[in-house]
Amino acid sequence: MSDKHSNQQSRYTGDRLIPGSFAGETVTRRKFMSGTAQTAGAIAAAGFTLPALGFAFGPVFHEVPHHWSPAGPPEMFNEDNYVPIVITLTPGVGEVGKGLVYVRKHNPKIDTDPFDKNTPYIAISARCVHLGCDVRWVSAAQRFVCPCHGGTYNVLGIRVAGPPPRPLDRFFTRVTNNLVEIGPRFSVNDELRRFSPRDPGEPLDGIGQYLYPSRPSIRI
Ligand code: FES
Repeated sequence: MSDKHSNQQSRYTGDRLIPGSFAGETVTRRKFMSGTAQTAGAIAAAGFTLPALGFAFGPVFHEVPHHWSPAGPPEMFNEDNYVPIVITLTPGVGEVGKGLVYVRKHNPKIDTDPFDKNTPYIAISARCVHLGCDVRWVSAAQRFVCPCHGGTYNVLGIRVAGPPPRPLDRFFTRVTNNLVEIGPRFSVNDELRRFSPRDPGEPLDGIGQYLYPSRPSIRI
């Protein structure tokens, strides 16, 4: 093997004839500095990306126990109009855990969606899915109207005007011991397909359903 070839294979920078090398040096200063800078950059990036990822995805793995709240006896509700009910959505936190829900009996004439076929009562969340103001049911217009930015939803809670990005959220319902009960919240897309609960401002049609992870730990 020639001297030139064996010098190129040596682990010492001096043997490889690298300008400015010191005796016994195995890594060039340029490589050492760029490696140090990249490691420092990676640590700095992890410092703000890891907490953000934890904040975004942590709730996905946090299971919330199901809670059912009594809404009233079945005769309180009819097929044609919503009754506003304040229920406890998150137990154990007092008034903060309460929320407004609009409830009516299932109406086969308008609740034609297959997902609603076996739902005895329709319970719609009053929280506007734009920024979270409480919507108001206007019976004469058969619309839910948001006072904040003019968001308007039809009788099924589907957006018909304004900035909300999806229909109003809904709740599971059941009848137990002659009492209508309101269960966990879920979100729906424009076809009323059900999704795990999302926050206001998160669309569910198109790629929106993939861009925004579920946050089941947030109920209100
Ligand atoms: S919060 Fe309802 S439209 Fe903005």
